[in-house]
Amino acid sequence: MTVRVKVASSAKELEDVFWVRHEVYATEEGYFQGAKDDKQMIVDEFDALPMVANIIAYCNDEPVATLRINLDSGQGLPPEEYYDFSAYRQRIAREWFSEHGTQARFGSAGMLAIRKPWRHRRDVIRAMFKMGAGIGHAWEGTHIIASINAKTAEMYKRIGFEALGEQQWVVEIGEYILPMASTFRAFYYWAFGDLLENNSTFLNLFSSRFQRLLLGPDDIIFRENEQATEAYVIDSGLVRIFRTGSGGNVLTLGTLGRGELFGELSLIDTKPRSASAASISNSELIVLDREDFISELQKNPARTHEILQIFAERLRRADELAVVLANGSPVIKMEYALNDLRRSAITDGKRPSTSIARISPLEVARNAGIDEADVREFLNRLMQQGVIEYNEHQIRFMDMSDAPSASDELAEHHS
Ligand code: CMP
Repeated sequence: MTVRVKVASSAKELEDVFWVRHEVYATEEGYFQGAKDDKQMIVDEFDALPMVANIIAYCNDEPVATLRINLDSGQGLPPEEYYDFSAYRQRIAREWFSEHGTQARFGSAGMLAIRKPWRHRRDVIRAMFKMGAGIGHAWEGTHIIASINAKTAEMYKRIGFEALGEQQWVVEIGEYILPMASTFRAFYYWAFGDLLENNSTFLNLFSSRFQRLLLGPDDIIFRENEQATEAYVIDSGLVRIFRTGSGGNVLTLGTLGRGELFGELSLIDTKPRSASAASISNSELIVLDREDFISELQKNPARTHEILQIFAERLRRADELAVVLANGSPVIKMEYALNDLRRSAITDGKRPSTSIARISPLEVARNAGIDEADVREFLNRLMQQGVIEYNEHQIRFMDMSDAPSASDELAEHHS
């Protein structure tokens, strides 16, 4: 099930935002005394201000969740309808000015509504908040306030929000509301902190772009020969690039992981997709539309150089794959597949000398086009040699700095 998270921009998308709010607050929760209006929408004056972004999540074409981010443009912010933030505002404005010599810029997060069947989907909530953090950052907001449904306090605390007072019963909503605040800096750090510390450039560059795709195992992202309007950067998970032969046999061209870009070829040469792409595990992608992508390349020649490097690496890998296919032995295929996985594996924060690819032996077998029994035999052998550890969910690559590489081990075994 693919979920697309984006900032609502068309009239239809905005109507969907207002409808989801109504569906959740009035129909499901009975707030606002059921908001009995004919239009089945909840919309207020803060939706019409210049600095507002309504984030919406679609599951296939169905709107399932929404969140609103506002930046103050002089008319106050939505949370101030329910709580007096003036003492907080004055204190922060004073402290910020004396420290930075500039004005604090307040924003807000609110109108969080997630329809019941999706309420357990933490990844959807997280993706909406990540997008909110990116927007606040792009707007140069400094502090963020929220009057939240007290039931969701724990979630806001995890993101770095602090309560400013006691929860209060709000008659017109019919719920306890808790005033909370944080800085956009903390919010951004929660969303993208690890990226600030490492240098996966495409991910850094596009992390706060305003569209994300959340995919489950085996979700198709696009198929070969389709027309293209988007490229993608992988924020988390693994993606398989493959082609299907005339006899229906599937050939994996590459396995891509965090920080890697794909789907860019068709945007550059304006031809149909050269291959299909599907997620292997749960994955989160950042979506780049053609304009975004091309304008970034034009603005910054260093990006063009990076793209050339990606092409060069893929060409080398394609050459290797040609040799693997010509040879055809399962050992060589396995070697190729494992090297690909090691390349896309992510460093384990708890054991930084090791890296992890979240993939099962069965998925490795499918990816590489070899028997699962053969895969397990190889993996067991490598595990005995201390090259990897694996279970039904992941392969852990050990520190190979002074040990033979997985591929050497495999080659040795083969000879
Ligand atoms: P595009 O042609 O738009 O869609 C398919 C994408 O798969 C393509 O862009 C590349 O991003 C990616 N791709 C194509 N061939 C390979 C390969 N050999 N290795 C890794 N990725 C590839």
